[in-house]
Amino acid sequence: MKQIGILTSGGDCPGLNAAIRGVCRAGQDIHGMHFVGFYDGFRGLVHDRSINLESRALSGILTDGGTILGTSRDKPHRMEIGGKVRDMTDAAVETYQRHHLDALVCIGGGGTHKNALRLLKAGLNIVTLPKTIDNDVWGTDVTFGFDTALGIVTEAIDRLHSTAMSHGRIIVVEVMGHRAGWLTLGAGIAGGADVILIPEIPYDEELVAEAIRRRTRAGKQFSIVAIAEGALSKKQAQKIEKLAIAKEKADTKAEKIEASKKLSKFHAKHVRHTMDLTDHLKHMTGLEAKLTVLGHLQRGGTPSAADRILATRLGTACAKILSNGESGVMIAARGRGTAAVPLSEVAGKKNFLPHNHPWILAAREVGTCLGD
Ligand code: F6P
Repeated sequence: MKQIGILTSGGDCPGLNAAIRGVCRAGQDIHGMHFVGFYDGFRGLVHDRSINLESRALSGILTDGGTILGTSRDKPHRMEIGGKVRDMTDAAVETYQRHHLDALVCIGGGGTHKNALRLLKAGLNIVTLPKTIDNDVWGTDVTFGFDTALGIVTEAIDRLHSTAMSHGRIIVVEVMGHRAGWLTLGAGIAGGADVILIPEIPYDEELVAEAIRRRTRAGKQFSIVAIAEGALSKKQAQKIEKLAIAKEKADTKAEKIEASKKLSKFHAKHVRHTMDLTDHLKHMTGLEAKLTVLGHLQRGGTPSAADRILATRLGTACAKILSNGESGVMIAARGRGTAAVPLSEVAGKKNFLPHNHPWILAAREVGTCLGD
């Protein structure tokens, strides 16, 4: 009987339990495999904290948000142990061997795929599944978690409309998505935001203010501005590009560290950019402006039907791949089916919105300001 390990890693999202259930149910019932779950991402693998995922453990979890296994952003090769950062790759390999695993399933986003590739190179058989509300995993049509978050953010924008309209205000709504604009653009279109600002299109504050003033002149006293947490003004985009080039061109290790520090400092300061934009729009338009940060609400709660189906579809396809003895791949959503994409191709890449994406074109054609 094949022994398979499974863990969830990175930020949680709705659909993780559906994916665990999909892999394990199909794996046990159809392919005769046994599953061990590791708690809290790669940390549970390193410390060998596990649970036998028998049929009873999988009952009733399909509709639950979060993950029954817990999750963390820990990396095996740079893990904080007792206040010190250590390379724990060997401990992860030992746990794998102790459990006589034939393969390990890692369910996660961008960071997880980089960690998974390292473990593959350390000799483990790894298969991954793409999850994240950000929809930024390269190589898959879509990630599970995204559809649920899209629904949550759209509903939030719907609700903000009535209060913005009643008070004649600008409401700026900050949406998650890391450095990608999928969630903001999708929910912005669905919720009818007047301005949508995404990382892929650096914006000009004056153009945003003018779009709002134009609405005021047309008798519309309120505006909704949906902005991605990773969005950048043109000036900020230029600065970040300069810092990234400096890091790339750094000759010595010391120069590289210094350039990395400057980049991190920029990102740390950038977290308050939506507050600044709200303030600037207030002064530039003369309207009252308020900021709503949706935060982790976007990741919580029960998965949508589409995410339950996607996670089950990818999970069961994963079980089949495991039974064939294949590894080193991510199970991607491809059209109505799935595809096994080599981890070496996925790790380190991001799926950003292309400028000619139909969503961008459609948003422009209904008169939405994208800040450019
Ligand atoms: O990757 C998912 C995500 O929700 C991003 O949209 C966001 O930038 C990040 O995680 C937040 O991470 P944390 O939960 O660690 O604050």
